[in-house]
Amino acid sequence: MNSKLSHRLQTIHDHTPLHAHIYDVGCDHGELGLSFQIYPQVQTIGLVDPSSAVIESLIKKTNDSDIPKEVLILRKKANQLEIKTKKNSVILCGFGGTQIAEGLSHLKSQLDEESVFVLSPHRHVLQLREWLAKGEFHLLLDTMILEDQQFYPLLVLANRKGRGVHPFGEKDLWHSPVGAQYREQLLGVLKKHQNPRDQSFYRYLESL
Ligand SMILES: C[S@@+](CC[C@H](N)C(=O)[O-])C[C@H]1O[C@@H](n2cnc3c(N)ncnc32)[C@H](O)[C@@H]1O
Repeated sequence: MNSKLSHRLQTIHDHTPLHAHIYDVGCDHGELGLSFQIYPQVQTIGLVDPSSAVIESLIKKTNDSDIPKEVLILRKKANQLEIKTKKNSVILCGFGGTQIAEGLSHLKSQLDEESVFVLSPHRHVLQLREWLAKGEFHLLLDTMILEDQQFYPLLVLANRKGRGVHPFGEKDLWHSPVGAQYREQLLGVLKKHQNPRDQSFYRYLESL
């Protein structure tokens, strides 16, 4: 299997530590998880998704191709996953921030401090950031991906306390080339929002 990843998925791939066990949670087509097959140090690839249709198609896809690694295909939500190995990279990308937070709170106590989470929520982003700001994780990367005029957050966290997550994102993020473009767009959108969370976010962005 040798498909080319989109810019967004390639960026997530490039920021995922090449640990022995990599789980692609909410994997859908599985292309991101399967892209780690080429690395000798990666022993297990977990493809996880709650959708039966997704799982059926993954089983067919992996049966039809010559996959050398151990590929686990699991029909589960993020908050149902059990991981017993040490030093894992767990990717939770492309679904809601609330579901990602539920997954993190379920997985946190199962995993060792060397395990890493790679997150890219597609909605409820502020809710996830607020939850992360409680300080349970060590922030390794907080950046933004631009693809087809859409902005996607990307956070990489170690499973231990340390450098906290800013609920609205540090200044550096909003001064990066992609962050600055997104800030401009958000200021226009948030200005019209009445709810207190969006208003605080607007005031924060405006103050930078
Ligand atoms: C838009 S696809 C994202 C695919 C890929 N991760 C990406 O970023 O392109 C979202 C996938 O997340 C799955 N999903 C939805 N809720 C989930 C949850 N609570 N835990 C794990 N996966 C979930 C869906 O079944 C769907 O296949």
